[in-house]
Amino acid sequence: MAAVNPPWAMLAELTHACPLRCPYCSNPTELTARSRELDTAAWVRIFAEAGALGVRHAHLSGGEPLLRRDLPELVAAASGAGIYTQLVTSGLGLTGRRLAGLTAAGLRSVQLSVQAADAATSDRIAGRRSFDAKREAAAVIRASGLPLGLNVVLHRHNLDAIDAIIALGVDWGAERIELANTQFYGWGLTNRRALLPTRDQLTRARERVEHWRGRTRAELIWVVPDHFEGVAKPCMGGWGAVSLTVAPDGRVLPCPAAYGLPLELPHALEHPLSWIWSESPAFNAYRGTDWMPEPCAGCPRKEIDFGGCRCQAHALTGDAARTDPACSLAPDHRLITALATEPAAEEFVYRAHADRIG
Ligand code: SF4
Ligand code: FES
Repeated sequence: MAAVNPPWAMLAELTHACPLRCPYCSNPTELTARSRELDTAAWVRIFAEAGALGVRHAHLSGGEPLLRRDLPELVAAASGAGIYTQLVTSGLGLTGRRLAGLTAAGLRSVQLSVQAADAATSDRIAGRRSFDAKREAAAVIRASGLPLGLNVVLHRHNLDAIDAIIALGVDWGAERIELANTQFYGWGLTNRRALLPTRDQLTRARERVEHWRGRTRAELIWVVPDHFEGVAKPCMGGWGAVSLTVAPDGRVLPCPAAYGLPLELPHALEHPLSWIWSESPAFNAYRGTDWMPEPCAGCPRKEIDFGGCRCQAHALTGDAARTDPACSLAPDHRLITALATEPAAEEFVYRAHADRIG
């Protein structure tokens, strides 16, 4: 087996529990119950192994990671292993005192999710009142001196307000605003017809983002949409290339959406992370380019997009090894163009009580 470069980044899904019920949630439809979550000692060991393996950046995510009372210990463990830690949060439950404890433990930055620029739309998308808490959380983060990033998932119901969303981010003091068009995985797939934007919405929003670039000190990141561009997107820099995900129960995934793939996912309590990264069948299944069928195998872009998303290929064609139908060269591309013309649904389907799972 060829030598494998070490991972650089890690997504630590500390819990799937969450006070919000966003219809675009990319976590799986079957969430991990709280009773099955890893305990503190297991996460401490995983962060130590990750640091030794080469991981330098961790997103502490969920669900809502603030629901873990042991979060300061987990931050300290990651930080002690030489890993830069970023908290990815809805902001609910983030007090100045809580953040001071996390900062003292070594937390380096915070990414706050925002659903829309006005309270009514934001609360409708989030499935509960939360906008005011987010504004307060942003103020707490700014007061702490930690860098603040905003993460906004874009879709049919907020793309037309892109100017107001960017203005809100600037007003709240964000240094970075990630404008991420919805990716249709996990629960988000359930709501695809309610979330899928029109091509016109996307075109206008992209123009507005370009307009703002250079006119604000905030860095603007536009994550291109699925389904419309005719191009496949590289997942996490390539399968098993730079990043790994650890699920709340200790399963380790090459990609955060790989729960639904027909793979035997290795478990961090059963194998060393180094073996999982370098040798496990799951991490080698679509690593590199040798596994690729045509047209990817002979394509000049194969080391740029790595044949696109395995999850999307599997969801749409039943075969995770086929070329991602998002690519206009894919034999199955018609499956994507058909989706983009599906009639819209008006109502969101919300998860039931993700804050109270198991
Ligand atoms: Fe990417 Fe494969 Fe499409 Fe080429 S054929 S652009 S490698 S998905
Ligand atoms: Fe990573 Fe699909 S989202 S391969």
